[in-house]
Amino acid sequence: MRAVDIIEKKKHGEHLSREEIDFMVQGYTRDEIPDYQMSAFLMTIYFNGMGKDEIAHLTESFVNSGEQVDLSPIEGIKVDKHSTGGVGDKISLIVIPLVASAGVPVAKMSGRGLGHTGGTIDKLESIEGFRIELSSKEFIDNVNRHKMAIVGQTANLTPADKKIYALRDVTSTIDSIPLIASSIMSKKIASGADAIVLDVKVGSGAFMKTIKEAEKLAETMVGIGKSLNRDTVAVITNMDQPLGNQVGNSNEVKEAIKVLSGHGAEDETTIALTIASHMCVLGGAFGDFDSAYSKLQETIKSGKAIKKLKELISIQGGNPEVVENTDLLPGARNSIDIKSEKDGFVYQIDAESVGISAMLLGAGRRTKEDKIDYGAGITLRKKIGDTVKKGEVLYTLMTNLDDYQDAVERMKEAYVISNEKPETKPYIYNIIK
Ligand code: URA
Repeated sequence: MRAVDIIEKKKHGEHLSREEIDFMVQGYTRDEIPDYQMSAFLMTIYFNGMGKDEIAHLTESFVNSGEQVDLSPIEGIKVDKHSTGGVGDKISLIVIPLVASAGVPVAKMSGRGLGHTGGTIDKLESIEGFRIELSSKEFIDNVNRHKMAIVGQTANLTPADKKIYALRDVTSTIDSIPLIASSIMSKKIASGADAIVLDVKVGSGAFMKTIKEAEKLAETMVGIGKSLNRDTVAVITNMDQPLGNQVGNSNEVKEAIKVLSGHGAEDETTIALTIASHMCVLGGAFGDFDSAYSKLQETIKSGKAIKKLKELISIQGGNPEVVENTDLLPGARNSIDIKSEKDGFVYQIDAESVGISAMLLGAGRRTKEDKIDYGAGITLRKKIGDTVKKGEVLYTLMTNLDDYQDAVERMKEAYVISNEKPETKPYIYNIIK
């Protein structure tokens, strides 16, 4: 087999066999195929797409390129959850204790944030003492005993995807549905999930800018799940503005505590309950979505959900008192209120600009090596559709930096105040199964 012949085939939109896909993926991972041939190959996929079975073979090839986590010592159906990335996205923090309290095991591997999107691991590390490095024995024991544990990605999972993703980033081939879908699903499958719930975000702060694109991505990922025997459900959610009111790390933990205590913002409460309900149905705890949803609402009301979050913090070495006393979480020296310069409605809040501003305040990383300021972040006092009066506070920036002018400037671009009331959009657009 020669790489050039496979590229030629895909250039003409022809169907590739499992062996041909494997030849390209494994050859590139082993440095036997050079960057220029893989770049050309990726571009042919970008323009000509891939069939359903080709995408499944590509996913499998990514999975087989590295280690796979063996979760078989954990009893029950292991259901994982993945978000395609958003701003203020603290849904995992809410969903882990919620699903675990229904008896479904959650063995979660999560990443760190980079650029304008945050990472669950960083948020949890804002809790003093919280350990995200657990031995595999401790991880498995915790899930068996407490139905939940979370670790950072340490195993050598899907090295082919890692190498190809870096190449896609510099060859303008990121925004290809077969490539995104196989990249995401390979990581979930390699981390040992039996079933997967995907939160596919759509809007200004998301990869997918239109509902149609998001549905196509969701259908492709659900199709991969079917081909590889992993029950998969995709929930298409609105990311036209950040979720909830907090963007950062410790302030997002505070907001997750609010949701689990029954006082959360409506958008993230609805999305978290929806995702958790689908996870519980796939995990066999409830027979249908509606009974799962109402049972999980009760779990929040009864105080069981917040108790489960305390348990998670405690078993991973963190101080559980933060749940009752959120002042124990890191804060910021500077708190800057930004006021509206006119009357009107909040018409738009560009989520990506909010994410970038939070990063500039210290809440995120520009490069992988950057250190995070856990107390930095943004509180949104007004959301899309709210009325504002001139002089009312729109948002508050929190930082330990003395020079934060670039974040202020970037935030000014995020908010649009208009005389026109914007149309109300749903939190959830569609469910793809
Ligand atoms: N997230 C991933 O893991 N892979 C992609 O290709 C895009 C988003």
